[in-house]
Amino acid sequence: MRTVASIDIGTEKIVALVGEIDTYGDIHIVGIGEAKSRGVDRGSITRLERAARAIASAVREAEEMSGQKVNHVIINISSPKLKSQNEKDTINISSSPTEIEEDHINRLIERSTAKGKEDGFEIIHTIPRKYVLDDQEGIEDPVGLLGSKLTAQVHLIKVKTAVVRNLEKAVSYAGYQPILQVVNALASAKAVLRDEEKDDGVLLIDIGAGLTDFVLFSEGYPVMTGCIAMGGNSITKDISIFMKVDNEEAERIKKENGVALVDLVKGGDILRIKPRGEGREVTIEKRQLAEVIQIRLEEIMEKIVKEIEDAGFKLDTANAGIVITGGTANLKGIREFMERFTDLPARIGKPTELGGLKERLEDPKYATGVGLLRFGTRPEGLLSEQRTSVTNNTGGVKGFMKKIIDFIKELL
Ligand SMILES: Nc1ncnc2c1ncn2[C@@H]1O[C@H](COP(=O)(O)OP(=O)(O)OP(=O)(O)O)[C@@H](O)[C@H]1O
Ligand SMILES: [Mg+2]
Repeated sequence: MRTVASIDIGTEKIVALVGEIDTYGDIHIVGIGEAKSRGVDRGSITRLERAARAIASAVREAEEMSGQKVNHVIINISSPKLKSQNEKDTINISSSPTEIEEDHINRLIERSTAKGKEDGFEIIHTIPRKYVLDDQEGIEDPVGLLGSKLTAQVHLIKVKTAVVRNLEKAVSYAGYQPILQVVNALASAKAVLRDEEKDDGVLLIDIGAGLTDFVLFSEGYPVMTGCIAMGGNSITKDISIFMKVDNEEAERIKKENGVALVDLVKGGDILRIKPRGEGREVTIEKRQLAEVIQIRLEEIMEKIVKEIEDAGFKLDTANAGIVITGGTANLKGIREFMERFTDLPARIGKPTELGGLKERLEDPKYATGVGLLRFGTRPEGLLSEQRTSVTNNTGGVKGFMKKIIDFIKELL
């Protein structure tokens, strides 16, 4: 039995999970801690000490529940400044067919990664999607095969260096050692997507409080990863402005009466609210509330579709449809909204196939935390190497890269 711990640092909440991994690699969650997020705004640390205190409070709760002391942690990372790109590179091995070795792959990946280098950004993941050996496409693992020319296609994800460092700093300040950072969209995808969906093509959308993270999978691998600086908080704010109520009241109205699609609400259904500065209650139509929500969701979706198209892909790459997760996936009618907007099938993604305290975690808002934990189902040694890649890869990719890549590939 091995223990792993994760921290999902969100805009609204911080969730710490402690899991035990059995000999089959299955996770049993034995500790959950949750704290209101402080000093964090849309993936960035804004007040170091406050953030560290909130992180420590979540982890301590998880430690107490599990009876385990946490040291190393897997953490999430996200930011509206997140960028992804696809690169391709070829190396000539020799003029006659020669056996492909790990070293060839390392060199190739190193060169592909270098193509994504950008000042002020750190490459968080390099994910090889496909190899082409001579003229043969669709090679999953070329090691041991014969060929004279090898091409790799990789998906790179990068985030502003300052965002990366400050998150690490807040976690260290809280007394824990981050050993791996995983971007939100990939962590959530790990918790809620099925392999067949990834193979057929699927768009995962995690709508949180401050951010909407998304990743488009095609033929099993990510091809476009992004993050929009809007989420459930934007909807709440719109409601508070439209109805002249404070944020807390707007949040309550959204959760109790909000619907994502106007057409799902009967005309004539009304809602009583007490606007700020008015001594009495007024009534508004529930359809008006739905309209406010739908407009903001349309804006979020328009941005996602634009980013996907700007990267050269189409929404209908997602043959298996859309999987919605994150806290806002609890909004009534969101599945129907998504199907109407995209003309693709949609479902709500909740963490599944968990052992231990699973009932409590079967809410889409825990997708990131659970997914992070799944990235820890490999031996400790590999994790510490992974960490090295996370912090030092601006200077180039060293020999351990191949192992790390296998690790990421296997876990996606
Ligand atoms: N039943 C519900 N109906 C509508 N919205 C809901 C419901 N439950 C939760 N939410 C919204 O979900 C959001 C919180 O989601 P989540 O916990 O995934 O955010 P987070 O991970 O803390 O933030 P982020 O990932 O954006 O940094 C809030 O905006 C909240 O209003
Ligand atoms: Mg989140």
